[in-house]
Amino acid sequence: MRKPIIAGNWKMHKTIEEAIELVKGIKEEANKTDVEVVACCPFTVLSEVKRTITGSRVKLGAQNLHWEEEGAYTGEISATMLRNIGVEYVIIGHSERRQYFHETDDTVNKKVLKAIEKELKPIMCVGETLEEREGDKTFEVVKTQTLGGLKDVSAAAMKDIVIAYEPVWAIGTGKTASSEDANKVISYIREVIKEKYDDTVSEMVRIQYGGSVKAANASEIMAESDIDGALVGGASLDAGSFVEIFNF
Ligand code: G3P
Repeated sequence: MRKPIIAGNWKMHKTIEEAIELVKGIKEEANKTDVEVVACCPFTVLSEVKRTITGSRVKLGAQNLHWEEEGAYTGEISATMLRNIGVEYVIIGHSERRQYFHETDDTVNKKVLKAIEKELKPIMCVGETLEEREGDKTFEVVKTQTLGGLKDVSAAAMKDIVIAYEPVWAIGTGKTASSEDANKVISYIREVIKEKYDDTVSEMVRIQYGGSVKAANASEIMAESDIDGALVGGASLDAGSFVEIFNF
């Protein structure tokens, strides 16, 4: 039985005051659900959010990390630094990072391996662009990204990895993949995992859907057989709507 996981990806939003207000608005409700609730915040608010959620069931997530231990990498944040402030999850390879910051399957893989080494749980994102979907390349793209990101990742480490399938054309556009379509791609990712590892790993790994998830469509998405959660952007910025989503 896979435990559902709903994560908010706040992207580049929220000052410290706003972040505190948001998590205060979700923590009581998060304490009442068995769904795993994660807030993936900007680096600048992680410490304050950690303080605010301590004692609640909300988990702390970051949105990126660097794969090196430490050194002359101006502007970067290491896995050790994230662990040091109590981060548990980290989004890796979001399509916005691939698109605007030139991340590749190779850098995604380095980040995943470093996260595992430091006992951070990666939320590794994969997903096709509109052009790729229209060119019938969806399955090929998610397979390449999944296997590329998981290169040299052991079967044992897979228990702490979450994969997020986010079709790029559905992000922030209000367009959602139909829940059947999303489930089809996610089942396929599970097949890819099965080929690389085995049945046990494929049945255990949690795979989220992301892309215009909101209160109105969360229950339909979560009812699909292979979808174990959601990575929520815009709708996670409002406590009321995020609570409705994780209470799907
Ligand atoms: O990581 C979440 C994401 O990219 C989806 O964003 O705003 O479409 O829910 P949004």
